[in-house]
Amino acid sequence: MASKKVVKLINDQIAMEADSSAIYLAMATWAVKNGYKGTAAFMFKQAEEEREHMYKFIHFLGEIGEQAIISKVTEPKADYRGLLEVMQTTLGHEKKVTASIHNIMSVARKEDDYPVTSFLKWFIDEQVEEEATANELIDIVKMAGKVSEYLADKEIGAKAAKKD
Ligand code: FEO
Repeated sequence: MASKKVVKLINDQIAMEADSSAIYLAMATWAVKNGYKGTAAFMFKQAEEEREHMYKFIHFLGEIGEQAIISKVTEPKADYRGLLEVMQTTLGHEKKVTASIHNIMSVARKEDDYPVTSFLKWFIDEQVEEEATANELIDIVKMAGKVSEYLADKEIGAKAAKKD
């Protein structure tokens, strides 16, 4: 049987996963509005994944005889300066999720709560993947920025050729 403290932490995590889904959904709608079709598709999928994470925690609490609490979702940020901010926000958020899951794991371990520690293992691995993906997205956006600089540089070179 999980302690009240662990159940509370898992319920907080359920709220965090719901917030995650809303954050990515808002990023998707921003991307649609600004013509970033690929990012929109990615973020819609990410939002779905976060709901799956939320359900995993909800079902787990049910399985161990506890009640999951469904709370209010925090209103997500709706506007971004560009793709880099979207991806950096994603990484920052995933780092917070990782820290939160590690904290639950740490408390469950101290309490010798084997079902919770075993259940959380999937999330520990998932967060390694989530952070790696967010880092990759940042790299992609930065690389793309360099491509446009390269093209601009070529254009400037062409202008230089026409000078005098
Ligand atoms: Fe459910 Fe992206 O962490």
